[in-house]
Amino acid sequence: MADAVQIAPMNAIPPGATTDPLLQPYALKHLTLRNRVMSTSHEPFYSEDGMPKDRYRLYHVEKARGGVALTMTAGSAVVSPDSPPVFGNLLAYKDEIVAWMRALSDECHEHGSAVMIQLTHMGRRTAWNKADWLPVLAPSPLREPAHRSFPKAMEPWDIDRVVADYAAAAQRMQAAGLDGLEINAYGHLPDQFWSPATNKREDAFGGDLDARMAFSVRVLEAMRAATGPRFLLGVRMVADEDWEIGLSREDGMEIARRFARGGTVDFLNIIRGHIETDNALANVIPIAGMRSAPHLDFAGEVRAAAGIATFHAARINDVATARHAIAAGKLDMVGMTRALIADPHIVRKVIARDEDGIRPCVGASYCIDRIYEGNEALCVHNPATGREATLPQTIVRGDGPARRVVVVGAGPAGLEAARVAAERGHSVVLFEATERAGGQILLAVRNPRRKEFIGIVDWRLAQLERLGVDVRYATYAESDTVLAENPDVVIVATGGLPNTEILDSGNELVVSSWDIASGEVQPAPRALVFDDNGNHPGMQAAEMLAEAGSAVEIVTPERFFAPEIGGLNHAIYARCFTRHGVRITINSRLKSVRREGNHLIATIGSDYGAETQERIVDQVVVEHGTLPADELYHALVPHSTNLGEVDHAALLAGKPQEVVRNPAGKFRLLRAGDAVASRNIHAAVLDGLRFAKDL
Ligand SMILES: Cc1cc2nc3c(=O)[nH]c(=O)nc-3n(C[C@H](O)[C@H](O)[C@H](O)COP(=O)(O)O)c2cc1C
Ligand code: SF4
Repeated sequence: MADAVQIAPMNAIPPGATTDPLLQPYALKHLTLRNRVMSTSHEPFYSEDGMPKDRYRLYHVEKARGGVALTMTAGSAVVSPDSPPVFGNLLAYKDEIVAWMRALSDECHEHGSAVMIQLTHMGRRTAWNKADWLPVLAPSPLREPAHRSFPKAMEPWDIDRVVADYAAAAQRMQAAGLDGLEINAYGHLPDQFWSPATNKREDAFGGDLDARMAFSVRVLEAMRAATGPRFLLGVRMVADEDWEIGLSREDGMEIARRFARGGTVDFLNIIRGHIETDNALANVIPIAGMRSAPHLDFAGEVRAAAGIATFHAARINDVATARHAIAAGKLDMVGMTRALIADPHIVRKVIARDEDGIRPCVGASYCIDRIYEGNEALCVHNPATGREATLPQTIVRGDGPARRVVVVGAGPAGLEAARVAAERGHSVVLFEATERAGGQILLAVRNPRRKEFIGIVDWRLAQLERLGVDVRYATYAESDTVLAENPDVVIVATGGLPNTEILDSGNELVVSSWDIASGEVQPAPRALVFDDNGNHPGMQAAEMLAEAGSAVEIVTPERFFAPEIGGLNHAIYARCFTRHGVRITINSRLKSVRREGNHLIATIGSDYGAETQERIVDQVVVEHGTLPADELYHALVPHSTNLGEVDHAALLAGKPQEVVRNPAGKFRLLRAGDAVASRNIHAAVLDGLRFAKDL
């Protein structure tokens, strides 16, 4: 192997200013990576016309500024038009990508980060009815359930063409100044050839391992020939599909060993598990409530067996686990991908010995669930990520006068507003009616599976303490309470209360999903959950009821349960509902409830006809979002200069609010989160940040 990577044992790494294993440089062939933290490839759906334009670039530049050693851009940038983009994938088969990637890589390099890209042909893992409507390809004509395409079996001319496309795309990335690339070989075309589950061919590309590897070997050799010896090439590869009909661990390890021996490949990025369905994907990319770093030991075993530079990511979302991965010699580079979405400045904070300042990734997986629903990736509690052009990751102190800011309500919106206003240098008092901060997050964490969400609250409380915010618990703020503070700005973030009064009759007989989540109401033997929200609260109530032993039926007017929840979170609810035999009734609407003896009779209709059905149950739970708790807001409106008005143009342009409708008013009044309308954590935190950052 001419240009083989030497894996440096920890004690051979040149001593730096620190002994922290995470901060040691790593020599990947000729490239020195400044530390061991990387962002693995992930498509955030920020592309415009398939190109990595400003939003895309700024997103990666922020990670570079925050200290990552390597940002693996794109996720599944496609090399051919018959691999249509299904989640905003970059179009690596277009020449115009070179200039965009050049701008991105130059700017990341200026901040000291290496830049690579993931290239792929997705084979059957895409949809035929997108982009150019070309038929979808695969080694064999087997449908992938997750994307529903029926692929055609690749013909020899397809194989030649796609191999050439990989090589041409690699050349484009080299021309753009990137340090290297990886191909995706988990769920995509290369490993669709490796896996006995998806390769039933009887020609030179099917059968024994040599034949099943032939396509990927041709791809890598063509890319190497096109880019020369100094361009780094890697494979993000499944080394065990963990599937009785799929690629075995033995074959996966053997593939890794062959790549290491072969000399074409410079690094491996290890995956364990297959991604045929959402449920399978949830084991590869585990979410909140699932094990931390479940595949780290396996990745370490591949590293030991193959003896090649090894990267890996899968729920290594805290610095201690990442440090362990490096110190224990399991990995050379540790991927902290969602952790860096939550806080792109992890490394900078580690260097500054401010690990407590790292905004924690709580595993909500709102980021990835959104892309599979056709939306851009957004972090549940970091609204600045993906909005770097308009929202700051780091709040700088303002140079105007320090103001008196009163925030009412310590849920996610109020906590964020208080934090950001205090960072701006204002004097902040935060009133909370109860004895604990957190608002509806305190309900979410009652589900043991979601207890990490408390990090959203705790991180902010720690920041408020550092910033000297005056938090007054158990204080029900009325307008006099607020006026007594002589505020310049008041932000009302008083949240909402469950809205269950939606039935034709029997509203008084139902309970809310909050009642179940909070434990105020005990689960009854037979429970019907009517979810007319489509998001977590109803599903959480159903999960908690089912776990407590209730026989549960979910009734929803939607086409499937909780459509606002994406695939990974759906999978975990679906596992619970399957385990407990929860009945799911779609296209149906709860009309009324009446009491009969000790039971309740629920009448269910639908939007599709006049027929109704009845259910005999012991408990009816209604989830229909919240109504704003807005009395204080309305009481304060007449005292304010802006009468509550928000200048949306200024808000979106990142300019201060300057509306004056009542010159006699004493303060500017803003309203955030569910105190405005029933939404979610991200919307609440975004309100808090957007209002407070321009104060
Ligand atoms: C929004 C999003 C998009 C992703 N897209 C890709 C992709 O296109 N290709 C890929 O190899 N991995 C993709 N991933 C997986 C990540 O690279 C990573 O393996 C995963 O998030 C687990 O690592 P983490 O726990 O550090 O986040 C994606 C992840 C996220 C969050
Ligand atoms: S949405 Fe959740 S999983 Fe994704 S980065 Fe944010 S905290 Fe982490």
